[in-house]
Amino acid sequence: MGKFTVLDHPLIQHKLTIIRRKETSSNEFRQIVGEIGGLMTYEITRDLPLKDVEIETPMGKTTQKEIAGKKMTIVPILRAGIGMLNGVMEMIPSAKVGVIGMYRDEETLEPHEYFCKMPKDVADRECLVVDPMLATGGSANMAIGALKKRGVKDIKLAVLVAAPEGVKAIQEENPDVDIYAAAEDEKLLPNGYITPGLGDAGDRLFGTK
Ligand code: PRP
Ligand code: URA
Repeated sequence: MGKFTVLDHPLIQHKLTIIRRKETSSNEFRQIVGEIGGLMTYEITRDLPLKDVEIETPMGKTTQKEIAGKKMTIVPILRAGIGMLNGVMEMIPSAKVGVIGMYRDEETLEPHEYFCKMPKDVADRECLVVDPMLATGGSANMAIGALKKRGVKDIKLAVLVAAPEGVKAIQEENPDVDIYAAAEDEKLLPNGYITPGLGDAGDRLFGTK
């Protein structure tokens, strides 16, 4: 079964509290979702492999470290995943971006894919799927399925708020995928929203309500 890790760094927890507040403006919400995305990336990449590299400083030759292993693709799930993207890319500027569009049917809560554009070499890359909300887990599972169909082997999922139901759904359908969250919340409400949650992350990011 994939690991589920709550990244409880004080800065992440503090920032999450700000965006949970209902009075937080779209502008501040957007800014902080990006910042948390960056802080989470810092923690998630803690175990990246390193290799020795010979370089020359102004003082002479030396052997130092640089990141080894597979290159990364960041995969935001539209729309709300876009909110995390800038912060993540600030940490890994050389990453490529693959975008996948999903919406949830408001009645059935079933996910529907409406867009997918991946880098050509995505199968050779490690993918970090990002979305602020893991509710039923349907959207993230479908996005992970779309990556696997394209041959991707190494996939991680980063969300801000996870419902226990969503974590279970990912672990059952994609047991090879590790999940990282800024918080695990109490539960999913019958309307598919997480409580206490953030509300509708897409609407809060883009001011569409
Ligand atoms: C939200 C959220 C996730 C999904 C989570 O997107 O950003 O993608 O719901 O729910 P699930 O785990 O039950 O699938 P939404 O469908 O509201 O689209 P949006 O980002 O365009 O607002
Ligand atoms: N999508 C959201 O934007 N918020 C939730 O609480 C659940 C799904």
